[in-house]
Amino acid sequence: MTHNTTTVTTPDAAGVPNGPTGRPKREFAVPAPLSEHGPARVVSLCNQKGGVGKTTTTINLGAALAEYGRKVLVIDFDPQGALSAGLGADTHDVVTVYDLLIGNVRDPHEAIQQTTIPGLDIIPANIDLSAAEVHLVNEVAREQTLARVLRRITDSYDVILIDCQPSLGLLTVNALSASHGVLIPLECEFFALRGVALLVETIEKVQDRLNPAIQLDGILATMYDSRTLHAREVLQRVVEAFDDKVLETVIGRTIKFPDASVAGVPIIEFAPEHAAAKAYRQLACELVDRGAFA
Ligand SMILES: Nc1ncnc2c1ncn2[C@@H]1O[C@H](COP(=O)(O)OP(=O)(O)O)[C@@H](O)[C@H]1O
Ligand SMILES: [Mg+2]
Repeated sequence: MTHNTTTVTTPDAAGVPNGPTGRPKREFAVPAPLSEHGPARVVSLCNQKGGVGKTTTTINLGAALAEYGRKVLVIDFDPQGALSAGLGADTHDVVTVYDLLIGNVRDPHEAIQQTTIPGLDIIPANIDLSAAEVHLVNEVAREQTLARVLRRITDSYDVILIDCQPSLGLLTVNALSASHGVLIPLECEFFALRGVALLVETIEKVQDRLNPAIQLDGILATMYDSRTLHAREVLQRVVEAFDDKVLETVIGRTIKFPDASVAGVPIIEFAPEHAAAKAYRQLACELVDRGAFA
């Protein structure tokens, strides 16, 4: 791990103002339209801590990429079903990701639902998913069950985002085994860095044993309050620890997120001009700029 001590928050020599990460502020170009679609790059949103913005990021990054003309599928991989609720998906008497994992339903297309956002589809989950780990334990290649399911639909999408549950158990290992990249949302709070070492270790184990191609695409600071010294210090620590893995885009703390969740729509739609909506669009642009998505 590299240590970067150049995290000043004043303008640099050329007079370019620094962003919240302490690096010079950058603009990211709006992604060019795609002339053809697929196969998808699969990215897991992962952090075993709850309440750090995994689900909110899955919803709004997915919606922003769909706005830019990408065909996006988001997968609810948390038995709490917050992603499904946040996008207004049906979770009762429908095929869910659980049915696909345990082989109740063979064709993953049967689980896909459209959302109100054009170009954004979802595979929902409900509390049934909490029983999946027990079912999978006796399977051959149990860690690669989700990867096998996704193989049948990756050609239809440009982007697949997996919203992981807050644990490093078998479901999350399945998500990592099925992914090309991982995005780690990190709340700008004192204990944010606790547990990240274990998460990185888990990603490295998966890389070593199951999925050599997996990459850490970025660490996303969420719930950032620029007015508090505390948040600025936490972000500085994160940049010292993870250097250029820390994304330039930072998501501010705002009450608009809980409001949008209640409404069952992305903030991108709920309050399109809000700073947080703009931040998630910028995140989409930055990730395309970094090559995470076409
Ligand atoms: N940037 C933010 N500012 C304020 N509240 C947020 C922000 N991002 C998420 N939230 C809220 O925090 C709670 C947890 O976020 P969520 O995305 O569900 O986290 P996770 O999926 O990691 O558990 C939700 O109520 C959500 O609306
Ligand atoms: Mg969640």
